[in-house]
Amino acid sequence: MKGILICGGTGSRLRPLTEITNKSLLPVYDKPLIQYPLQTLIDAGIRNIAVITGPEHIDQITSFLGSGERFGVTFAYKVQDKPAGIAQALGLAEEFVDGEDVCAILGDNIFFDDVSPIIKAFKGGGHVFLKEVTDPERFGVAEMDGDRVVSIEEKPTNPKSNLAATGCYVYDNHCFEIIKKMKPSARGELEITDVSRGYLENGNLKATILQKDWIDAGTFESLFEAARLVRGTYIPSPRGEG
Ligand code: DAU
Repeated sequence: MKGILICGGTGSRLRPLTEITNKSLLPVYDKPLIQYPLQTLIDAGIRNIAVITGPEHIDQITSFLGSGERFGVTFAYKVQDKPAGIAQALGLAEEFVDGEDVCAILGDNIFFDDVSPIIKAFKGGGHVFLKEVTDPERFGVAEMDGDRVVSIEEKPTNPKSNLAATGCYVYDNHCFEIIKKMKPSARGELEITDVSRGYLENGNLKATILQKDWIDAGTFESLFEAARLVRGTYIPSPRGEG
């Protein structure tokens, strides 16, 4: 299985922090944001990873990540000329993926669950990870019937559930055929949610509901919360505090 780290886009909700710096290089406590989704791929045993970003950030991304040796992986880089959607970014990696399965993860997502057993056990189709949230209209939203996904929609005005589709997608190689047939959404993007819906319509989409915290660090509040959670997870409170 190949890994894809999707780190393009404008990061407009985080300006002025993202005026010059790519969102995924912003600090989350003691590490740049990108290291958390990278670690998720590494924990799943993935060693060949394509990193996708825009032309304005490719230099800073490559100078931070380098060849991958420092992390025990090998990186390939792809430039997404325009932020035409997460699915369009994934489509750029077809040649790199070379017929294998793929785990694509957004460069601004931090997972506190251990998703590695599910990624390692993947046997075709599509698999998404859902998280109960209080503001589902900000995300892709999945509706479940028992353990079956019955619908998945991008940022619905009237969400059918409070289950957000998080930014980790495990797909077989068929995802590239789905992407080629897709049309841009109303906001002019090829939506990753439509890739998952392609699997759903073929009866091939599975989902896992996350139990621990999950962060999409795309806003000031969530970036701040990410740092707080990471600090709480990895560093015990200093003696005598509280
Ligand atoms: O975080 C989970 C959510 O991520 C999902 O629930 C949504 O279904 C999915 O569409 C996405 O929504 P966001 O509104 O958070 O997407 P955003 O535009 O923030 O992009 C997420 C990451 O993908 C970000 O690190 C930038 C990158 N990206 C985005 C676009 C639109 C690209 O690399 N290229 C792009 O064209």
